[in-house]
Amino acid sequence: MRRIEVDVNGSRHVRHVDERRLLSDFLRHDLGLRGTKVGCEHGVCGACTVLLDGAAVRSCLLLAVQVDGCRVDTVEGLAGPEGLHPLQEALHRHHGLQCGYCTAGILMTAVEMAGEAGPHSVEEIKQRLSGHICRCTGYAGIVAALSEVVGS
Ligand code: FES
Ligand code: FES
Repeated sequence: MRRIEVDVNGSRHVRHVDERRLLSDFLRHDLGLRGTKVGCEHGVCGACTVLLDGAAVRSCLLLAVQVDGCRVDTVEGLAGPEGLHPLQEALHRHHGLQCGYCTAGILMTAVEMAGEAGPHSVEEIKQRLSGHICRCTGYAGIVAALSEVVGS
């Protein structure tokens, strides 16, 4: 077991974790943040995407001990007292989700994009979304939502 200290959505957590504990399992099972989903568990589907010090990463490909001393942001941190994050609002408005399994991961990639110099072209948005598999919506609504917030 190793002691780690992680800032998750602005709150500091100190835990003892098994060295082999995946970051996705740490978030979901140790911290109870089940908004981050697990699909393929080998880096393909994007469902488990979170921000690590501002960069979108696959939490199923990282160990919890690797984020010791870092900041992690998950979908639970997006909405505030004033309501949903603009990207969540846009996905809702454009019907960019059905079952929602892929949505948390897509949102975190979109938040990463929102923090970059923009605006992003539709082609860029599609290229970044290529790391996310959605089996429900056909992507049109997702691209429209992201275009509205981070696009040109
Ligand atoms: S569960 Fe991590 S990429 Fe699919
Ligand atoms: S909304 Fe169901 S997988 Fe994307």
